[in-house]
Amino acid sequence: MNLGIEIFGVRFKNPVWVASGTFGYGEEATKLYDVSLLGAVVTKGLSLRPRLGNETPRIAETPCGMLNSIGLQNPGVEAFLKDIYPRIEKIDTHFIVNVFGESEEEYVEVCKALESAEKVVAYELNVSCPNVKKGGIIFGHDPVILGRLVERVKSAVRKPVLVKLSPNVTDITQFAKACVDAGADGLVLINTLVGMKIDVKRRKPDLATKTGGLSGPAILPIAVRMVYQVYEKLGDEVPIIGVGGISNWEDALQHVMAGASAVQVGTANFFDPLAPLKILEGIRAYMEEEGVEDFSKLVGVAHGG
Ligand SMILES: Cc1cc2nc3c(=O)[nH]c(=O)nc-3n(C[C@H](O)[C@H](O)[C@H](O)COP(=O)(O)O)c2cc1C
Repeated sequence: MNLGIEIFGVRFKNPVWVASGTFGYGEEATKLYDVSLLGAVVTKGLSLRPRLGNETPRIAETPCGMLNSIGLQNPGVEAFLKDIYPRIEKIDTHFIVNVFGESEEEYVEVCKALESAEKVVAYELNVSCPNVKKGGIIFGHDPVILGRLVERVKSAVRKPVLVKLSPNVTDITQFAKACVDAGADGLVLINTLVGMKIDVKRRKPDLATKTGGLSGPAILPIAVRMVYQVYEKLGDEVPIIGVGGISNWEDALQHVMAGASAVQVGTANFFDPLAPLKILEGIRAYMEEEGVEDFSKLVGVAHGG
């Protein structure tokens, strides 16, 4: 049985990865389990300079999910390379760095700084953070601006460039197409959906920023629908990485059958830290039971007919 995949020229030991912002830089979980069992770790978003993030409270529980408005707190790419990377490079799996910038130039600079970090196999451009005032969403909500950013980064770096799309748009396929036309090597969908929770005692929104990004099981059907729509439009032109609401192997396989070549586990890491490993085992058991030799054969099978 083959759970290995090869996408955008990189071989991954399996298709179960962890999503940006829900797994730090991969270090914390080493106290819980062997992180090298994961297909890849996607890091918390990195920017050129350190960011303190938004004011607190910036997390709120919701039915079947959570809202966050972290605001991309991170130490900056230089500190990452100096202090964090030397420790995580010993973990025997691939790293994908989630990159954020307030300008095209910043996205380029962050990626360029990571070009010689061997364990970093690709960049995931976050153009879809709903919780920052500048950058991110500005790029993710206009297909022309998005295409220009992707072209600019692609022309400046050697490693594959993935783009993480926003679900807070009317037609996600337009944005997917703009990225592919600009040379993106892969698409990651979806980021969080803008939401709000109100504290009725205080008569005010829970989050300091008022709105935040909704994630967790509540968003699974939306994410699956978007993966399906993008696969329907683009077929296997570029690999799609499915993320959103995955907490068990069946959720993961929904993404895969909709068209995802690999999946990322996000919020589930908070309520079930072993979820990624259980999902991997569940997929393996499903393949054995169903007589599926090669995982890639499951990608997009919900289409047609
Ligand atoms: C606390 C938190 C922090 C996040 N930080 C980032 C980030 O830095 N960059 C990014 O692209 N997505 C970030 N995300 C979005 C997740 O990577 C993922 O796309 C989203 O949560 C949907 O997946 P899920 O429902 O499995 O959590 C974050 C999500 C959460 C909950």
